[in-house]
Amino acid sequence: MSETTASLTLGDHGFALPIKVGSIGPSVIDISKLYGQTGLFTYDPGFTSTASCESAITYIDGDEGTLLYRGYPIEQLAEEGDFVETCYLLLYGELPTASQRNDFDYRIKRHTMVHEQMARFFQGFRRDAHPMAVLVASVGALSAFYHDSTDISDTKQRMVASMRLIAKIPTLAAMAYKYTIGQPFVYPNNDLDYTSNFLRMCYAVPCEEYKINPVLTRALDKIFILHADHEQNASTSTVRLAGSSGANPFACIAAGVACLWGPAHGGANEAALKMLEEIGTVDNIPKFITRAKDKNDSFRLMGFGHRVYKNYDPRAKIMQKTCHEVLQAVGHKNDPLLEVALELEKIALSDEYFIEKKLYPNIDFYSGITLKAMGFPTAMFTVLFAVARTAGWIAQWKEMIEDPGQKIGRPRQLYTGAPRRNYVTIDRR
Ligand code: CMC
Repeated sequence: MSETTASLTLGDHGFALPIKVGSIGPSVIDISKLYGQTGLFTYDPGFTSTASCESAITYIDGDEGTLLYRGYPIEQLAEEGDFVETCYLLLYGELPTASQRNDFDYRIKRHTMVHEQMARFFQGFRRDAHPMAVLVASVGALSAFYHDSTDISDTKQRMVASMRLIAKIPTLAAMAYKYTIGQPFVYPNNDLDYTSNFLRMCYAVPCEEYKINPVLTRALDKIFILHADHEQNASTSTVRLAGSSGANPFACIAAGVACLWGPAHGGANEAALKMLEEIGTVDNIPKFITRAKDKNDSFRLMGFGHRVYKNYDPRAKIMQKTCHEVLQAVGHKNDPLLEVALELEKIALSDEYFIEKKLYPNIDFYSGITLKAMGFPTAMFTVLFAVARTAGWIAQWKEMIEDPGQKIGRPRQLYTGAPRRNYVTIDRR
């Protein structure tokens, strides 16, 4: 057997399966011809060992706790870069030069407003609707407003749709928030940078001047960088799968927003904060740890564990620091939730159950406390995640569309239902 093939033996027959090698990380056994050759499918629910595509965007080494966007470590991007630069990097593969950056800023700013009729579309929602419900619907509705950028075979339209999505998602997210609290929508202000503009659209009211707090702006910008992409996670795979049928990018991103909403994915920051509030005091922690370890109890420590990271999530480390900075800036230095979080983290990291299962804090463990301190209600946490992840979704969607080998995503199954049988009329059942 050569080094570039794996061999599979089925009865008397041997099959050579090519091994494809990436730039870093595990190689893959190419099984795309397996069914044709053997009549068998592979079985991997949850895709725990299956690569669904080739990608040059994001790399994670879950054992090492490494996250790279286009090769750059997340720690360096979060410390030295900003979110808009990260969007450029994810989309185009390189950090922008100064003139590329100016041009990119200009192109995004040209698309920050949404069609005025979108405001009326919002009026149809109940005021108590979850902002994620509103976001799923309003992002999907963009395809009804921007017909001139839904032709995915046109490079220019793809680019315009990408700019529109990155530019309009903060506007829609802020509108979703304003709607639920009964305040007037705030139009974007293109004199401001991306994140300051978003904060202003969320918190400004017509009767008062809104003052930008640079510590909070920087913290939120970092949160956006940390959430911008995470290779083939559930929502990104959803975007790719939706896009593989040729659906327009607005519809695909709406599908990503819907998938992100679940508590095992983007909804975990909301769930983690609720859990910390439920724990309430340090004294109650052992009770919750016992519950998390009990096989007969469905309770899990929210903000712990990750499908890929079997080490400390590198984003969680940055988030922990950012959390302290924000609490300091808003005068909540001794926040009881932070106290519970720090103690819970300490206990869990020294507990045999969590050590053995390699369950470390993930990004959502600290992001909830941080966002709460910034004034966001819990229902908005996943919305903020969606704002940031739109950059990654678009980059991954674009990469897929531009891949000449791209095919419609169509998994197979192991059928366990009834074999063929004849229809029985109702009087004979
Ligand atoms: N608390 C207690 N036990 C846990 C936890 C937890 N948070 N997470 C996993 N386990 C146990 C689980 O019970 C299982 O035990 P056993 O082997 O005895 O059956 C083992 O660890 C492996 O868990 P799994 O569910 O098979 O692992 P997974 O890779 O399918 O799940 C996860 C990953 C993130 C869904 C899971 O760890 C979890 O539910 N965590 C809590 C929710 C959370 O924080 N999600 C945010 C993920 S990071 C944000 C993002 O990228 O979207």
